[in-house]
Amino acid sequence: MIISTIGSHSALQLLYGAKQEKLKTKVYCLEGKEALYRRYPVAGEIITLSSYEDLLNLKPERDEIFIPHGTLITALGEKISEIPFKIFGNREGMIWEMQRKKNIKLLENAGIRTPKTFSPNEIKSLSIVKFPGAKGGAGYFLCSSSDEFEEKLSEILSSKTITEEDAKTTQIQEYITGVTMYPHYFHSLIYDRVEMLGIDRRYETNADALGRLSQNQTAINPSYKVVGNQPLIARESLLPQILDYGDRLITASQKLFPPGLIGPFCIEMAITPEEIVAFEFTSRIVAGTSLYISGSPYSKFLFGDEMSMARRIARELKMAMGQKRLEEFLS
Ligand SMILES: Nc1ncnc2c1ncn2[C@@H]1O[C@H](COP(=O)(O)OP(=O)(O)O)[C@@H](O)[C@H]1O
Ligand SMILES: [Mg+2]
Repeated sequence: MIISTIGSHSALQLLYGAKQEKLKTKVYCLEGKEALYRRYPVAGEIITLSSYEDLLNLKPERDEIFIPHGTLITALGEKISEIPFKIFGNREGMIWEMQRKKNIKLLENAGIRTPKTFSPNEIKSLSIVKFPGAKGGAGYFLCSSSDEFEEKLSEILSSKTITEEDAKTTQIQEYITGVTMYPHYFHSLIYDRVEMLGIDRRYETNADALGRLSQNQTAINPSYKVVGNQPLIARESLLPQILDYGDRLITASQKLFPPGLIGPFCIEMAITPEEIVAFEFTSRIVAGTSLYISGSPYSKFLFGDEMSMARRIARELKMAMGQKRLEEFLS
């Protein structure tokens, strides 16, 4: 079996984890990005692409399994459906992740508390305004009234951060004043269970820099571009609900797009003094898992071993192959 992926996001972890499980590895890099994968020798083979669209015309090897991550989604969008590789997981899940309406619909169907959504004329309290595909929040802004919404929208339209087209598909949400947490789940078909292998906190700029300014200096719009991740351990009494959210998301995904989410996924949440609120889900490995190459406290409890998310994926695939069930895990 050959494990392949695109050279960015969590590729170093993915290839290293596959190697730990004694699988062959291959990385597809944009021209000029190979250097990193030569410096860290985790890829058995490096293939150069002139654009990510080249992936649509490649002929994968017979025993090659491609592991999708965030870059694939941003680079190809809905063209993911056409990629000629066997992908670990359900590619339908990635389509649900990409479209903001579907993304929130899955969380709602799972009975998970999500932020209230408003139309522009309903804004009466602190709200966050998001635009389609703007991963990392370029142009996102906060406002507390319909007038403020119109004012800030025309400001960012004139600065050309977003297009008129983007402005038509805004998502306006209740702003959750809570501590963000990103648990790393894994839906195992082999063990028929949802595992929670680690939690991180995203370090987002400049949102996480604003706390260093005094209140009268903070008339700055926050943005949410992720620059890194920090490890986080949840208060133990929060774990039952965090685990329950993972179970519920899988059950709902199985109803909405059978066979549902398979393998790694994440629920992006903010924890307030009263409740756990989820604002987005991710259908594949998240980059914060790379914190735990040597395992996390939670993966230790489950496996007593150095079990990163990448190694967990490789282990599941090997077991699936051993049980002659590989097709169930791929799409
Ligand atoms: N309803 C919300 N309340 C408070 N903060 C939020 C809310 N929704 C998103 N955020 C913050 O904005 C970041 C980006 O939002 P998200 O919905 O995950 O969009 P994307 O990942 O597509 O940019 C989150 O990681 C979080 O820090
Ligand atoms: Mg997000």
